[in-house]
Amino acid sequence: MKMNRTHLSIAGAAILAALAGVAQVTAPEPASVPHLEKRRNATQLIVDGRPYLALAAELANSASSNLEYLEPYWSRLVASHVNTVLVAVSWELIEPEPSKFDFSLVDGVIRDARKHNLRLMLLWFGSWKNSMSTYAPPWIKKDTKRYPLLVDENSNNLNMMSVFYEANWKADANAYRALMRHVREVDGKDQTVLMMQVENEVGVRGTSRDHAPEAEKALNGPVPKELMDYLAKNRDSLIPEIRQQWAANGNKTSGTWREVFGSDRRGDGIFMSWYYARYIDQVAAAGKAEYPLPTFVNAALGDWVGQYSSGAALADTLNIWQAAAPHIDILTPCIYRPVFSEWASLFHRAGNPLFIPETRPDPGYAVWAFGRHALMGFSPFAYERSADGATPLARAYDVLGQLAPLILEGQSKGTISAAVLVPDKPSESVELGGYTFELKRGRGPGGPPANQQAPGQPAGRAGAQAGAQQAAGGRGQTGVPFEQGAFALSTGYAMFISTGADEFIIMGSGAQITFHPNTPGPKTASISTLEEGRYVDGRWVPGRRLNGDDTSLEYSLVEQAKLNQSGQGLRFGNDPSIVHITIYRY
Ligand code: DGJ
Repeated sequence: MKMNRTHLSIAGAAILAALAGVAQVTAPEPASVPHLEKRRNATQLIVDGRPYLALAAELANSASSNLEYLEPYWSRLVASHVNTVLVAVSWELIEPEPSKFDFSLVDGVIRDARKHNLRLMLLWFGSWKNSMSTYAPPWIKKDTKRYPLLVDENSNNLNMMSVFYEANWKADANAYRALMRHVREVDGKDQTVLMMQVENEVGVRGTSRDHAPEAEKALNGPVPKELMDYLAKNRDSLIPEIRQQWAANGNKTSGTWREVFGSDRRGDGIFMSWYYARYIDQVAAAGKAEYPLPTFVNAALGDWVGQYSSGAALADTLNIWQAAAPHIDILTPCIYRPVFSEWASLFHRAGNPLFIPETRPDPGYAVWAFGRHALMGFSPFAYERSADGATPLARAYDVLGQLAPLILEGQSKGTISAAVLVPDKPSESVELGGYTFELKRGRGPGGPPANQQAPGQPAGRAGAQAGAQQAAGGRGQTGVPFEQGAFALSTGYAMFISTGADEFIIMGSGAQITFHPNTPGPKTASISTLEEGRYVDGRWVPGRRLNGDDTSLEYSLVEQAKLNQSGQGLRFGNDPSIVHITIYRY
C-alpha cells in the first residue's frame, strides 16, 4: 500500500508538471522503480520487474570518499560474484556548505558500478553514523546552538545530534532530499541504485536517553496518540517484548512515557526509539517524495533495549519503529555477535522482511537465511578488502547466483529450506517435500564410504575449519546473558529446493546428507537418480551422473541399517556445488 501511494504521488507530480509545461527530468515509469512486493510467503525486492536476490558486499566506511582508491576493488567484487555493493554517501562531502551540493562522488560511484555491471545500495551517513554525528558537515557540527546535541544526565553535550530539535531533522532532510532528487535524475532510467539505508546504526550510547530541554519536555508529555492507537489496534500481534513492557506498566491507553512504559532503561529505550524513528521517518519521507526507492535502517545489536544504542531499531522495539516510521520499509540487523540464527529470526518477525546489510562473510549463514528466512540480501562488511574469487563466500555466491531464480520462487512458494552446521551443532535436520534431510559434517566427495576410511583421515573441510572457529558466546535478546565475541563460523551447509514430487535441487558444502520419508508409505528412501551440474543462464547443464562410491555413505549392512536402511546419501565437499536428485521409496 505504502509503495503504491508513493508511486501514485510521483505519477501525480509528473502529470502536474506536464500540465504546467515544466521541463521534465527523465522520471522513470513508476511501476519500474525498484520496490518491495509481497509475493505469497515472502516480501521481495523487485528490480527490472523481477524479484532480485542481493548477493551483496558493503564497502569499508571511507572507501567511497575517493574514486581512485576504490577503482581496483570493483573488479575484485565482480570476481567474487557479488551483484550489489553497499556504499556510503557522506553528508559532509555532498553538502560542504549549506545548500551547496556536490554530487561528483555519487556520480563517480554510480558510473563505476555500471561499468562493472554491479548494482548499488546507498548508505546515507547523515545525522548519525554509529550513534555519533561525525559525518555531519562542519557547518552543522560547529553550530551547536542552532543544531543542538544530545545531553547526558550530567548536562554534558555528547557528539550526537539531538532528535528533539526541528532544525536538526530539517537540515538532514534537506540534504537527503537533494540526494534523492539527484539519484532520480542521474539513475532513474538505469536504476543502478536499488535501495537506500537512511542513517547508520543510530541510538544513544553511554546513557539511556537524551536530557536536552526539548527531550525532557517530550518525556513528560503524553505518549503520542498515533502510538497508543497503533498498540491498541495491533494488541494481539505485538511482539512479546513490547506487549510485556506495556502490560508491566498497566496496559494504559494514555499517559506520559513513564506512565505508559515505565521509568526503567527499557522505558527510556522505547521513548528514544519513537523519537529516533520519527526523525528518520521525516528524512526518509523527504527523499521518497523525490524518488521512492525502498529504505532500510540498520541496528548495532546489543543486549536489551535501553542498554545499548538506546533508541535503535532493535529486535525488541520493532513495533515502535513500525508505528513511527512508515517511510522505512525494512529494519535490519548488523550481525557480528552470537547467535547469528537467533538474531536473524528475531528480525524476521512482525511482518519485517529480512535483509542483512552487515555481517561476517560466512557462506553457511547466508545460505541458511536465504533458505529459511526468505532473506532478501546478504552483505558482509568491508568485504572489498578480502574479496577475490576464491573465498568460501565467493564460491557460494557463484552457486547462489546460478540458483537465484529458483531460490526466489522457492521463497515465494515456501518450497525451500536450508541448514547450517556450526561447531557446537554438528548435525541438523530439515523437513521439505515429504522428506526429512539430516545434515552432518561432511567427509568430502568421492572416495570410499565412512566405514572404509583409514583411521585419522581428515574429515573434509569441517575438521579443518572447526579448529579455526571462534567460540560462540552467549545469546542475544531473549534472556540468557549476552556475551561479547563473534558468532561461530559455519562448518557446512545445504539448501534444499523442492521442484516436484520426490524431486529436489540441493546445493551444499562441507556436509553429508541422509534422508527418510516423513509421510505415510514405504519407510525407506533412496536415490533414484543423482546428477551434479550447473545452471547456465537459468538452464540446468548436467555434469556427472553420481552413483557407487559417490552416493554410498556406508558399505556395511549393519551400519546402513543404523543410518537409513539404504546406506545412500549425498556428500558435499569444500567447493559448494549443486545436485539434482530424484528419490524413490521401498
Ligand atoms: C558497524 C557500522 O555500521 C559500520 O559502518 C562499521 O563501523 C562497522 N560497525 C565496523 O565493525
